[in-house]
Amino acid sequence: MEIVIQQSAKAATRLVAELIAGELRTNPRLVLGLATGGTMEAVYAMLVDMHKKEGLDFSKCRTFNLDEYVGLPPDDPRSYRHYMNHHLFDRVNIDKRNTHVPDGMAADLDAACREYEEAIAKAGGIDLQLLGIGRDGHIGFNEPLSALRSRTRATALSQATIEQNVRYFDNDRSRMPKRALTMGVGTILDSKRCVMLALGKEKAGVIAGAVEGPVTAMISASALQMHPQCTVVLDGAAAAGLKETEYYRWIFQNEPKWAKYHGPAALDS
Ligand code: PGA
Repeated sequence: MEIVIQQSAKAATRLVAELIAGELRTNPRLVLGLATGGTMEAVYAMLVDMHKKEGLDFSKCRTFNLDEYVGLPPDDPRSYRHYMNHHLFDRVNIDKRNTHVPDGMAADLDAACREYEEAIAKAGGIDLQLLGIGRDGHIGFNEPLSALRSRTRATALSQATIEQNVRYFDNDRSRMPKRALTMGVGTILDSKRCVMLALGKEKAGVIAGAVEGPVTAMISASALQMHPQCTVVLDGAAAAGLKETEYYRWIFQNEPKWAKYHGPAALDS
């Protein structure tokens, strides 16, 4: 695991957008794993900006989203398919046929999950998986107790997640789906590279557990400690619960591969 702490939420977001853009420039046929949530909105806004201003090309890119609510149709504004269309797919030159979000409306959810895994495999696996983290430590909707080798499946949302996301459902719990389809922890760990972005003080406790605590199914994100190429990008507030921040900063300053991110883009605040 690599931990990169930036001065501001904007700088952390920009670094993540640049990591994605860099991979896409190197490999236009990139298979991107995508995430939703409030944190990612600014990442997608920056990618859209790079597409408009620098011609960042999505035409051959393939995407697989982490998760989707069960029971929300794609045109429901709270569905993750709608989120992705709105924040990214409708604003860049991606071929929508190359974009995949689990089908939370499928008559046979188990079959839809199996097909999702097959589609990822057929695309050659995920090259870069973008991740947020829930306050309960979830990646995707892998809530506490999710097996560290779990695959794409239907699962119950935790009370903490319902609490976190009920704002998108008029603060009315009864309107919020109680289940979702999600890539498993094992599915995520199979991707070639993982990049997690976490911002703000409400993530500080769970980031400390995921990064410096033991690997445990109670914090799905802690499984990323086992991933051979995982970068966790934080702002100062999300890093506030970590003990070894000086060490992480030292690595960022001294590893040659990070040198190109020391400039104005990374420090932009
Ligand atoms: P957030 O969600 O970006 O809205 O905090 C992240 C997540 O739950 O994975």
